[in-house]
Amino acid sequence: MDRVVEIQSVNFENEYEINLRPTSFEDYVGQSKTKQNLKIFIKAAKKRGECLDHTLFYGPPGLGKTTLAHIIANEMNTNIKITAAPMIEKAGDLAAILTNLDEGDVLFIDEIHRLSSAIEEILYPAMEDFRLDIIIGSGPAAQTIKIDIPKFTLIGATTRAGMISAPLRDRFGISFRLQFYSDEELSQIIQKASVKLEKTIQKNASLEIAKRSRGTPRIALRLLKRIRDFADVYNESEISQNRAKSSLNELGVNELGFDEMDIGYLDILFDAKGRPLGLSTIAAALSEDEGTIEDVIEPYLLANGYIERTSKGRIASYKAHEALKIPFQKGLFDEKN
Ligand SMILES: Nc1ncnc2c1ncn2[C@@H]1O[C@H](COP(=O)(O)OP(=O)(O)OP(=O)(O)O)[C@@H](O)[C@H]1O
Ligand SMILES: [Mg+2]
Repeated sequence: MDRVVEIQSVNFENEYEINLRPTSFEDYVGQSKTKQNLKIFIKAAKKRGECLDHTLFYGPPGLGKTTLAHIIANEMNTNIKITAAPMIEKAGDLAAILTNLDEGDVLFIDEIHRLSSAIEEILYPAMEDFRLDIIIGSGPAAQTIKIDIPKFTLIGATTRAGMISAPLRDRFGISFRLQFYSDEELSQIIQKASVKLEKTIQKNASLEIAKRSRGTPRIALRLLKRIRDFADVYNESEISQNRAKSSLNELGVNELGFDEMDIGYLDILFDAKGRPLGLSTIAAALSEDEGTIEDVIEPYLLANGYIERTSKGRIASYKAHEALKIPFQKGLFDEKN
């Protein structure tokens, strides 16, 4: 087990998430391409006695970016030091983190797109040459002092790859986009978690939860926990498909796994009756920022063909209309083209 150091108290994760978090590639379900490649890169780095190259994980929330950072530290037999970009406000904050690393450590920076450009400047020589350039004084008397820092692996995670500056992105030797999970994969994740929770669950019950989890392990695990509550209260030693179904309905989880944000978003497109809507229009109607819409709501809907993104804007697909039982009207947009 790796030793985990939280540099500042970053506590945006639930306790159960940490408990249910896989610690090895064997327990980490899905993302097979990413996993296969990472295993090779880790093996090669270990063979040469080097650190793993700096690694970037990006993709929608809850797909396993933080989990992979922990697994990498574990597989490399190193410590992981954890922080998040908003915690690194001043140059001195980053300098303190970097000088306190031990040789070979993994430094995990969550929400890495939120680093300020001044902080990024300090990170560049640290990533490339394991060196800190510190400027002392100002004006003509200013001097740069170079300090060597231990070799380390930076692992960055973000839901907003588009917001990472090009120079920072280029300094990651390894970069992976995490994908949504299939129902079968989510079902496996649920099965493994239920073993840890010491509650058995029927295969068709775990599939039922999987189908309504929006391709996302975090959602699947949250639903599993809630359904376990129902089963416990009804004194059922095993979670059956019926229990899963009735609890999911009780919890108001849509059959397709849509959450309120998805439904609110689709409603706006339905109201437009096929006319493509721009991101800013949708953002204003939802009172949500554009980034959240692009990075949190849209990827799942796009990946599953519920919406289409054209140069003129977004439209709800026939599939979305059918799924939410909304009469499909051929849009103005289609007629003109
Ligand atoms: N491939 C997987 N196999 C098993 N469990 C997983 C997998 N991916 C994620 N999980 C579980 O799902 C939960 C969310 O994962 P994680 O915290 O790594 O997501 P994330 O991508 O870092 O999300 P965010 O963008 O919100 O930080 C955790 O409890 C984790 O254990
Ligand atoms: Mg995370």
